[in-house]
Amino acid sequence: MPRRTVFRRLAHISLDQEMRERYLMTFSSRWLYHHIQHFPMLTSQTLFANQQPLELEIGCGSGEFLCSLAQANQACNFLGIDISETALLQATHLASTLALENMKFVAANAHLLFPLFAPDSLQAVYLHFPDPNRRRKFRKRQLFTPMLLDVISQALSSGGRFSVMTDHREYFLEMLELIERDARFEKTHAERYLSGFDAPVLSRYQRLWERHGLATLRFEVRKRL
Ligand SMILES: C[S@@+](CC[C@H](N)C(=O)[O-])C[C@H]1O[C@@H](n2cnc3c(N)ncnc32)[C@H](O)[C@@H]1O
Repeated sequence: MPRRTVFRRLAHISLDQEMRERYLMTFSSRWLYHHIQHFPMLTSQTLFANQQPLELEIGCGSGEFLCSLAQANQACNFLGIDISETALLQATHLASTLALENMKFVAANAHLLFPLFAPDSLQAVYLHFPDPNRRRKFRKRQLFTPMLLDVISQALSSGGRFSVMTDHREYFLEMLELIERDARFEKTHAERYLSGFDAPVLSRYQRLWERHGLATLRFEVRKRL
């Protein structure tokens, strides 16, 4: 069976308590806001008890893309964050079915997790298909902000990569302009931006929007040395 079909089918099956405890941590917003000092730093050492490089997806949803990376790169750890516990239960089931040792998920509002990223602790960050939140009253929910860039530039190791993609052209151009003004990052490609993304396993939203005929717009930058 093709790998993409396996990943799609696994997303609908229920989850037992043991799998959940192994892969998924849920951090309440109220506790994060008032008692951040009681939460563990999100590093390879605290999450996996080893020193392997760590890659992060913010808003990983049902986790198909990140789990495929984890399966292909066992010498690296992967952390997926999403505010939706329902999506992460699907991601957890997938990680468990693939018996991944190098994958964990945190159900939490990413905005509140920023203090838990240690300097130079991440090898790569993925922000793929973030919710556009274009209406004025929802703008403050947007994930791609100058504050996110501050956090990522500190948390990435030198040369660490930050990959952003979306089908939403207006939001994409806004993010592109913001990153192009930021001297802490440089593009990893000669083109101003890339169209399409040919991963071995596509994320749920990439599949969805491409089925609707929308192009995937992407840029990737690295933290300057
Ligand atoms: C459009 S989906 C994309 C999911 C996945 N990256 C993909 O490509 O299939 C956006 C995801 O971001 C999550 N999200 C939105 N705001 C968030 C926040 N403040 N913190 C963490 N996750 C968030 C949503 O729950 C949702 O799963």
